[in-house]
Amino acid sequence: MTASRPESDVEPSLPVFKGAPPALKRSGRLRSAAIGVATLVAAIAGTFGYFLAFPSHAPASLDRWIEDTTGANPNPIKLVRPVERPLSLLAQIGQKLFYDPSLSASGKQSCASCHDPAHSFGPPSDRDVQFGGPDLHQEGLRTPPSLTYLYRQPGFGIGPSAGDLDAQIPLDQLAQKALGKPRQVKSAAAPGQVAMVPAGGLFWDGRVDMLMDQAMGPLMNPAEMANKDRFAVDEKLRRLPYFSQLETLFGKQALQRPELLFIEAMSALSAYQVESGAFHRFNSKYDGWLEGKERLTHAEMRGLRLFNDPDKGNCAACHLSQPSRDGVPPLFTDTEYESLGVPRNRRLAVNGDPAFYDMGVCGPIRKDLAKQTQYCGMFLTPTLRNSAGRGVYFHNGVYHDLRQVLKFYNLRAAHPEKIYPHDAQGHLLIYDDLPVKYHANIDTTDAPFQQARGDEPPLTDADIGDIIAFIHALQDR
Ligand code: HEC
Ligand code: HEC
Repeated sequence: MTASRPESDVEPSLPVFKGAPPALKRSGRLRSAAIGVATLVAAIAGTFGYFLAFPSHAPASLDRWIEDTTGANPNPIKLVRPVERPLSLLAQIGQKLFYDPSLSASGKQSCASCHDPAHSFGPPSDRDVQFGGPDLHQEGLRTPPSLTYLYRQPGFGIGPSAGDLDAQIPLDQLAQKALGKPRQVKSAAAPGQVAMVPAGGLFWDGRVDMLMDQAMGPLMNPAEMANKDRFAVDEKLRRLPYFSQLETLFGKQALQRPELLFIEAMSALSAYQVESGAFHRFNSKYDGWLEGKERLTHAEMRGLRLFNDPDKGNCAACHLSQPSRDGVPPLFTDTEYESLGVPRNRRLAVNGDPAFYDMGVCGPIRKDLAKQTQYCGMFLTPTLRNSAGRGVYFHNGVYHDLRQVLKFYNLRAAHPEKIYPHDAQGHLLIYDDLPVKYHANIDTTDAPFQQARGDEPPLTDADIGDIIAFIHALQDR
């Protein structure tokens, strides 16, 4: 704490009139003592009142008291937000493309149909998964993630840190090198232990690296915008009323080559998502709190503590909640992949086939890491910013409100019988969305998953309510 604190102006006693009669002297002493005490009390009250009004000036030892009484952040920082400029011409074209249903085979679906700006660019409804295809009857396999806060998503990699990967080593070899290494224990990583975990990338399985490459996925996915191939997209792009803007930007000559037009359209979609502030507002109540401008309610404050507490929610071990020292706001994801053992969503058509499993990083949609079975069941940790506004949770959309999600975290280890179904013989179908041979991949080391069967669950109902209140404070406004 470098802040200056007000000096106390308390005087222990006031001078007494000399030579006064003893009685008067005594009452005078009494009075001065009373005045002294009153001044002391006033000074203490004043000091504490001052701390309440200016929490950042209080000594560190009062942090908890300040939080409890005021809900303010005793250690505010200045957040460094991305600079917002007017959209470039490329991003403006991307914005038009994003909302343009004429790019889909049905003529009715745009990116915004599944990534609704009114729902933080996440699903527009609480359906488990969205429908698409030429007649919009094709059921998807996974729920659309929010597109907010992807601008800082690093490329996919495997290793101690995705950042310092040697890009020359093919992923499959890297994964092979990682085999046999113990997986990371986030809350209590043993010193010197090398964690080889997948991180970064886009989609629930990280199969695409860059926003630019990403859009060809939905444009050609038969359960989404359902174009047959790039040429079908190309044809539609040429018919757009704003095609001439693309020509102005890239030159008529260049755009005669179909693959170039396609690539430019993808880069426009990507530029829109990166440039537009709508995708990364950082204006939630929690951001305001971090900056010392807003106060959390008692429930939100308790929720924040439980969220961070390694013995309670331990949520922050994966959904990072602290800004960097230089003020880069937290994204509430470490962008790593985990196998949480989310229950099978038996409502999905594709799961009518008992032999079908969506195993995330090891396939079947993603193909390149199919042999790396240590990653079967792993999905990307999503941001929890704007999570409270969703109507559907987890990659397979199995849950529809945060209370169900919290119940899963709280009871999966201690009371799995309350999370997974039983078969006709009454046997518990634990981790029922992953083949038994891969059950060892499921996280049983990070709290709250490290508990033994029958243990007292770490969170009470009231705790769960508080964590949910905190997650609501992560909504953009
Ligand atoms: C029919 C619904 C649908 C449409 C239309 C759609 N998406 Fe998606 N989007 C999804 C689903 C589902 C996923 C997750 C897929 C997965 O992980 O395999 C997704 C994932 C993404 C992601 C990755 C998000 C992340 O967190 O990794 C981006 C970016 C994205 N979509 C952008 C777009 C763009 C741009 C368009 C328009 C060209 C589009 N989407 C059209 C459903 C849709
Ligand atoms: C070990 C890492 C880890 C911990 C600890 C963790 N999460 Fe998660 N969280 C994930 C992963 C991975 C997913 C995606 C799982 C999936 O869909 O299969 C996820 C998904 C979620 C979702 C769904 C988001 C969406 O868009 O669908 C919510 C909500 C959530 N977590 C909240 C919490 C809370 C609250 C806690 C603490 C009680 C917590 N998480 C602890 C890794 C973690």
